[in-house]
Amino acid sequence: MGSRLLAWVDERFPLTKMWEEHLSKYYAPKNFNFWYFFGSLALLVLVNQLLTGVWLTMSYVPSSESAFASVEYIMRDVEYGWLIRYLHSTGASAFFVVIYCHMFRGLLYGSYRKPRELVWIFGMAIYLALMAEAFMGYLLPWGQMSYWGAQVIISLFGAIPVVGADLQQWIRGDYLISGITLNRFFALHVVALPIVILGLVVMHIIALHEVGSNNPDGVEIKKNKNAEGIPIDGIPFHPYYTVKDIVGVVVFLFVFCGVVFFFPEMGGFFLEHANFEQANNLKTPEHIAPVWYFGAFYAILRAIPDKLLGVVAMGAAIAILFVLPWLDKSLVRSWRYKGGISRLCIVLFGFNYLLLTWLGTQPSTGLLLNIARVATLFYFAFFLLMPFYTHFEKTKTVPERVTG
Ligand code: HEM
Repeated sequence: MGSRLLAWVDERFPLTKMWEEHLSKYYAPKNFNFWYFFGSLALLVLVNQLLTGVWLTMSYVPSSESAFASVEYIMRDVEYGWLIRYLHSTGASAFFVVIYCHMFRGLLYGSYRKPRELVWIFGMAIYLALMAEAFMGYLLPWGQMSYWGAQVIISLFGAIPVVGADLQQWIRGDYLISGITLNRFFALHVVALPIVILGLVVMHIIALHEVGSNNPDGVEIKKNKNAEGIPIDGIPFHPYYTVKDIVGVVVFLFVFCGVVFFFPEMGGFFLEHANFEQANNLKTPEHIAPVWYFGAFYAILRAIPDKLLGVVAMGAAIAILFVLPWLDKSLVRSWRYKGGISRLCIVLFGFNYLLLTWLGTQPSTGLLLNIARVATLFYFAFFLLMPFYTHFEKTKTVPERVTG
């Protein structure tokens, strides 16, 4: 009965073909490690955000008069509303933790190198869309930090010569951030951007499956095939990695649920304290800080005294990631076989990014400001000098087959 139904479907829709192409006959390198959990975890968090988001929308009211109260209502009166909201707010931070690990993996193993440039570029487009999604979502609870955070970010557009002021007004839809801004951010956050993100994720995975996955050795497994044309170092994604990924999911859910149930505010890093007070356009909070995941770019913005140049630097810090595939001139992909300078720079880059992230959440004065300036210089030097240090350094010999 089951196989007859499947045959009926297969004649009309390529179900088995797709299953085989993307799962049971998609040969992935057999040496995936811990870092390879984050792709499937990103999918998991995406689904969590979509589902909890839909349920939040059922009780949330997108108007400047009622938004704040409707969130309080969700927290106190809606059945399990507190859980749905904390899953969504913690999910936003978890999304960025997972994505940063996922991107760092790409950096470690040179997964952005030929022929995976488009996998990386689609990934970067997802990252941009995700930042816009998070930024717009943060306005919706209509708390003090929602309001003033949006105020700071939208005012950045004002630094653009000639069109700046008009652009700001066009984004807000008003002379100041108001219910009109809230309505359009709501529409973009719940409809437009999720569609864009989903579309990009599909393209990201199609592009990856077209060229095949990289691995911790950076060895191209398609070079060594057996008589049937199957990569010798490859194993079918299903069942091997579907089962392995379940381990990652279980560990992730332990940590995630721990945060959701015991530390949903995460000491003000996931839900900022000022946001428990309703937005008030006559009362500016003393210290306006973005949520932690924007911290690094905010620190770069503030490290530069001139507003326009700060905005340019912040934009450049994101834009430079798009061209990463063309900055790395190394003969090898993975950091395992790169020279000492590259290896050191990658580790330092990771720590430097964490430092910038933290600095972005702190007041920008005195010593901290100077540290942010040095860290900003290092951030750009890492990318701009990459063509040189990767080209000239001595690399190790890459094995023919994957190791371990
Ligand atoms: C919603 C966000 C995202 C989802 C759901 C997602 C999903 C995935 C999945 C399922 C894989 C295959 C499994 C794996 O290699 O871990 C993958 C691979 C990859 N992703 Fe993403 N991704 C996302 C965002 C990003 C971003 C922001 C970047 C970088 C800018 C990126 C870069 C890559 C690269 C380079 C690979 C290939 C890795 C390799 O073969 O070594 N992804 N992604």
